[in-house]
Amino acid sequence: MIQTIDPNQISQPDLHNILLTAVAPRPICFASTVDKHGNVNLSPFSFFNVFSSNPPIMIFSPARSGRDNSTKHTHQNVKEVPEVVINIVNQGIVEQMSLSSTAYDKGVNEFVKAGFTQVPSKTVSPPRVGEAPVSFECSVEDVIELAQTPGAGNLILAKVKLIHINEEYLTDGLLDTQKLDLVGRMGGSWYVHANGSALFEIPKPIRTKGIGVDALPQGIRQSEVLTGNNLGRLGNLERLPSKEEIMESLQDLELEDASKNEIHKMAQQILEEGKTEKAMALLMHAEML
Ligand SMILES: Cc1cc2nc3c(=O)[nH]c(=O)nc-3n(C[C@H](O)[C@H](O)[C@H](O)COP(=O)(O)O)c2cc1C
Repeated sequence: MIQTIDPNQISQPDLHNILLTAVAPRPICFASTVDKHGNVNLSPFSFFNVFSSNPPIMIFSPARSGRDNSTKHTHQNVKEVPEVVINIVNQGIVEQMSLSSTAYDKGVNEFVKAGFTQVPSKTVSPPRVGEAPVSFECSVEDVIELAQTPGAGNLILAKVKLIHINEEYLTDGLLDTQKLDLVGRMGGSWYVHANGSALFEIPKPIRTKGIGVDALPQGIRQSEVLTGNNLGRLGNLERLPSKEEIMESLQDLELEDASKNEIHKMAQQILEEGKTEKAMALLMHAEML
């Protein structure tokens, strides 16, 4: 059964909950800003992403309060001083980041409340978080206010002017996903920790053009064993193997008396070991039985 919901027919908190639970995990923009008097503010926002690398543009959204329609200090600050430092949050600073989201009075410096090191920036007035793995000094190019109603987002378009990377998180000069140990925001009070088995790789279908699931033989597409993910991986191959290639890759396998489903299970295991060509050859062999 599928529930179909008209967003106009449910309460704002219920809609908020569906949107934030379904659209996840979200990266966290830990934004440092200053007001016109130079008072520093630091707050997290998970309505956030990077949208362009040339020019380098990130967008985040401090929304109007669903309770009292007030605007966030961060939103007020970037309208007074159009600059922000976007700090990236990893596991090592997640609890302090959460503390900094407390609704302290305007003018209260969350660097101090949450115990972070305030490091002066080079091109903008807000300081950066010394403990963050990566920080981006940005100019605010635009503030798009979506509405004046409770819960309305305010898109802050930030252009990256300078990047600071803690070298601890580099391998051979490149940012290393495994070392970064990033966290993301889920619905409710849930977070995700991007490490260990939460990280996995999928070969990118960029340089090669996959044949597509529709080009796989029907017996493979309609397998009782293979999953959609298995078919997606097979459809990423550039071509089906030739008869000779099938014979060659099956030399080391014992297939006598194996049923089609047994062969598909074997192929699935080979596929999960990352040997896509070999799995495909085995499946093609089963098609010829
Ligand atoms: C991980 C996390 C993500 C958050 N994301 C958002 C967000 O995207 N938009 C928003 O308006 N508030 C978000 N909040 C709540 C704000 O951080 C909170 O309202 C904060 O007090 C705003 O501070 P300010 O008024 O000093 O700008 C988030 C809180 C946490 C802990």
